[in-house]
Amino acid sequence: QGDPRLKAISEAIRVVPHFPKPGIMFQDITTLLLDHKAFKDTVDIFVDRYRDMGISVVAGIEARGFMFGPSIALAIGAKFVPLRKPRKLPGEVISEAYVLEYGTDCLEMHVGAVQPRERALVIDDLVATGGTLSAAIRLLERAGAQVVECACVVGLREVKGQHGLNGKPLYILVEPR
Ligand code: PRP
Repeated sequence: QGDPRLKAISEAIRVVPHFPKPGIMFQDITTLLLDHKAFKDTVDIFVDRYRDMGISVVAGIEARGFMFGPSIALAIGAKFVPLRKPRKLPGEVISEAYVLEYGTDCLEMHVGAVQPRERALVIDDLVATGGTLSAAIRLLERAGAQVVECACVVGLREVKGQHGLNGKPLYILVEPR
C-alpha cells in the first residue's frame, strides 16, 4: 500500500511498553485522536473505501470502536450501532461470548437495532486474536444482517487471511510498531 497518509497515521499511535501488563506493547490510539490531520485521514480512508458499498449499519465495538465508527457512519449515510460490554445496554439484548487470554468476555447488541438483510461494517481500533471481531460478526448475523467487512486502524498481519473471522474480510490500515 503506497498511501503516504499511512506512515503519519502509524507514527501518531503511541506505543506503551508493558501496559496494561508486562510484555504487552499497547497501541495507544488516543495520541492519534490528538493529531487532527492523522485522525481525519484515518476516517477519510475508511469513508472513501465504504461510501459506495451500500452499507446501512456501522457497528462499533466498545470502547475504542466508538471513537471512529460514528464519524464513518455519518459520512457514508449509515446508522451507528454500539456493540457493548455486558450490562451496559438498557433494552433487550442479544449476547455473544468470546475467549480472552484469561477467561471470557461478552458483547451485547440491542434487539431491533439492525434489520434483516442490512449491510453492516464492523469497526474497532485494533485486532489481535480476532476473537472480539468474531463475536461482533456473530451478533450481526444473528440479527439477520450481512457483514460486508471488518475494519481496524491497527492490526497484526497474522490475523489477515485467517479463517478466524467467519470468512469475512478484514481491512487494516497499519501494523503495530
Ligand atoms: C481491545 C481492542 C479490541 C480487542 C482486540 O479491547 O480495542 O476491541 O481488544 O482483541 P482481540 O482481537 O484479541 O479480540 P479491550 O479488550 O482492551 O477492551 P476495551 O476497549 O473496552 O478497553
